[in-house]
Amino acid sequence: PYVITEPCIGTKDQSCVEVYPVDCICDAGEQFMINPEECIDCGACEPECTVEAIYPEDEVPEDMQQYITKAQEFFGLS
Ligand code: F3S
Repeated sequence: PYVITEPCIGTKDQSCVEVYPVDCICDAGEQFMINPEECIDCGACEPECTVEAIYPEDEVPEDMQQYITKAQEFFGLS
């Protein structure tokens, strides 16, 4: 699945929310988050983010790895 990382915090541009085809991105307070169980890996959201906060899970930078867990916890998956 795709993961939204730190640059979204305080930005919440929401361009990503307008393009994705399934109901998997939601407002999680300080940032938006993608539900990893509902993400269909379409990749539509990634190029839309103006601050490049979105990565495929296996390309999330070392210093942003915690956002993978953060999303799992937010959606009650861990
Ligand atoms: Fe956040 Fe980027 Fe979407 S800032 S709300 S991940 S377009």
